[in-house]
Amino acid sequence: MKNIVLIGFMGVGKGSVAREVIKNSEYMTMDTDDLIESMENRRVKKIFESEGEEYFRNLEKNVALWLQDSVKNTLISTGGGFYKQKNLKKIGIIVLLDSPFDEIIKRIKAHPNAEKKLKKRPLLSDLKAAKKLYEERRPEYLKIADIVLDVTDKSVQECAKELLKKVKKYV
Ligand code: S3P
Repeated sequence: MKNIVLIGFMGVGKGSVAREVIKNSEYMTMDTDDLIESMENRRVKKIFESEGEEYFRNLEKNVALWLQDSVKNTLISTGGGFYKQKNLKKIGIIVLLDSPFDEIIKRIKAHPNAEKKLKKRPLLSDLKAAKKLYEERRPEYLKIADIVLDVTDKSVQECAKELLKKVKKYV
């Protein structure tokens, strides 16, 4: 089984979909932000605050190289900017979780932990800037994705089922 790499904007549900998919498949799951947090023993937010974004992107690069060489049979959920890693295609099949910006924000705000979800993401602190970032990134996400999954108005279970169906022809 090839790895599956989940990409998409912050808050689109990459982690939730990954956790649901592994309930009904042979995949294991890991998350690039979690790997970085355990490498650094501090939160992504703290890394951004103390060292800046460039330092964080360099950690993402180290993670990407390690994933390519060392990880198999895994559904890898990624931070929203991880798609820029040059070796992404070598890690696995790329699945974009796609939804309009306003729907993503609506989804985060409807979550019981909404405040925490917004707070932990430094690039979501200014929604106007975040929308601009979304608009810049979306064409790039679409360009690199092997599979696009529209998650708008779908439950996590529906997304997971659709994802498994769509990746079947690639593995
Ligand atoms: C980022 C997304 C975050 C995290 C970091 C930067 C981005 O991950 O990696 O705050 O550049 O979009 P999520 O997509 O899981 O929120």
